[in-house]
Formats: sequence, C-alpha cells, structure tokens
Amino acid sequence: MAETSMTNKFTKTESNGHGKKEKEEALISEEEKLSLKVQATISFQKHFQAKHNDIVIASLPKSGTTWLKALAFATVKRHRFIPSSQNHPLLNSNSHTIVPYFEFNIYGGEDNVIPDLSTIPEPRIFGTHIPFPSLSHSIHNSNCKIMYICRNPFDAFISHWHFFKTILPSSVTFSLEEAFEWYCEGTHFFGPFWSNILGYWEASKDTPNKILFLKYEELKANTNFELKKIAQFLDCPFSEEEESGGVIDSIIELCSFKKMKELEINKSGKAVQFVENKHLFRKGEIGDWVNYFSPSMTEKLSKVIEEKFGGSDFSF
Ligand code: A3P
Repeated sequence: MAETSMTNKFTKTESNGHGKKEKEEALISEEEKLSLKVQATISFQKHFQAKHNDIVIASLPKSGTTWLKALAFATVKRHRFIPSSQNHPLLNSNSHTIVPYFEFNIYGGEDNVIPDLSTIPEPRIFGTHIPFPSLSHSIHNSNCKIMYICRNPFDAFISHWHFFKTILPSSVTFSLEEAFEWYCEGTHFFGPFWSNILGYWEASKDTPNKILFLKYEELKANTNFELKKIAQFLDCPFSEEEESGGVIDSIIELCSFKKMKELEINKSGKAVQFVENKHLFRKGEIGDWVNYFSPSMTEKLSKVIEEKFGGSDFSF
C-alpha cells in the first residue's frame, strides 16, 4: 500500500529512546491497525465489483475529502434529497458515513466479513486514499467515474500534522520537524504524496471522461464554477432553472466548512473507526502553513516539489 510505513517510523523513534511498556503497547496497536488496513486493501482489490455508474472520491488524507464527498453526494442525489431541506442526510450524518471508504469502512472491519454492496442505492459513491495503480481491476475496467482532489503540500502537511497529533495515542510523540522529514521523504500510509498525486493526474489526462482532477484551492476560490464542472462530469449537470432557483447555492451552503463544523453530528460523532468527526474540521483555510514553516522547511519542501513534479506538466 505505502512505500514506507509511518508506523515503522514511530516504532524506530520510540524504541530508540524510552522503551516503556505503555508506549510499546500503543505502538503495537498502531501496527495492528496498519496491518488491518493492508488486509482491507487486499480484500477490496479482490472482492470489489464496480458498477458502470459508481462514483469514487479519491484523495490523499487532508486534501478536502470530507468536503468533496459531501458536495458529490448532495449534487448527485439532489432530486431525492432537496439540498435546502431540514432533513437532508448531510445534516445528520458525516459525509464519511454516507460515502464510506473502501479501506476503512467497507472492507476494514476486524471480522473481515465481505460486505454485500449490491443493494446500495445507485449511483453508489465510495471514497478511497488508495493510489491509482492499486485500485481494483474492476474499477479500472468499468465505466465508473473517479474524482480526485489534491491540495498544496504545504497546507496538506500542516493539516496532517495537526490531525495525527490529535488522533494518535498521546504516548506516540513526534516533533513537527520529524514529521516534516518523513513527509519529504515520502513516508505516508498511502505512498509519497507526489506519486499518489501524479498517479491520478496522469490517469486523468489519459481518460478525462473517467477521472476528474480537482484542486482544493480552486474549489475554495470558485466553488460555484467547480461544482458545475463536477455535476457536468458526473452526467447530472445543473439546469438553468436549478441555477436560478438557488440549487447550486444551497448545495454550497449545506457543504460549507462553517455549516458542517457546527453540526451536532460533527461535534460528537465518529464516522471513520478511531477518528472523531470533530477532528475533520480544523480551519479549512488556504495558506495556514506560513504560521508553521521555518525558512529552511520552505526551501526543502519547495525543492522536493521541484524535484518530483518538475518533469511533469503538473503544478500546484
Ligand atoms: P485544515 O486542517 O487545513 O483545516 P480531509 O477531509 O481530506 O481529511 O481534509 C481535511 C481538511 O479539509 C482540513 O483542513 C479541514 O479543516 C478541511 N475541511 C473540512 N471540511 C471542509 C469544508 N467543508 N470546506 C473546506 N475545507 C474543509
């Protein structure tokens, strides 16, 4: 799944120093979680049968996945669930519950049961962080659609940093500088950020009708325009009546950071195993990285980006 395991890094760092039983137990449990994810990914690859009208939301963590899942669901199901309705499912459920991850929610159960997905109302919408080449053959070979969202690595790293600090056991400690080194060397559960992004980028150029490549920054800057692009791509474009009738605005409002963060379900619930929903909503801003990066960190990540993306036509 990933080229290097972040958990192994924790193991290395911790066992060099303290060696307390409590820390060892926390690390073993992190290793177990990773092993379950690998099993879940293999199970997904083996068993998932794509339907021609499935939609897959792909991303690296902390790239705006929660948001894109909500926007996709609200758009595709807008005739069944009116976006301005007080009973809309997104008001009572986190978007990760409604749009489950293959590797966390669907195939990630500790009992290893292969779920029956055939009865989910169509079009079915799923999420994943798995790199493009590792998706199931059935996804590659079907007409299903994939939307990938990427985020500027500077902000994505800071978002990761806060997130992992919050969700990992307090006994697993690491500094911003250590985490930064791992990020720059490509240590990530779902592979180095450059290969995950470039895998989907290249594929989106080869098959633009199958893969829509989105950027968090563009979605923030012009949500209306990007949402229309999304609807068009998903073969459910907004009509003029819908646009003038405020349907697009209602979807944008329903899925906005402010609205979602304030929902009771997102203050107290838990949609993805060991992650509380409240940790999915931090600042939702562009450029927060400047508050954390030293000049040398800025230089280093810029160099990594130049080295890894310089040979491609991709730019952030
Ligand atoms: P920050 O940590 O920078 O605030 P993911 O959903 O892939 O885990 O990404 C999480 C990032 O997206 C977090 O960024 C989070 O605050 C932000 N986010 C969550 N919901 C959002 C929304 N509705 N609109 C914009 N950003 C959102």
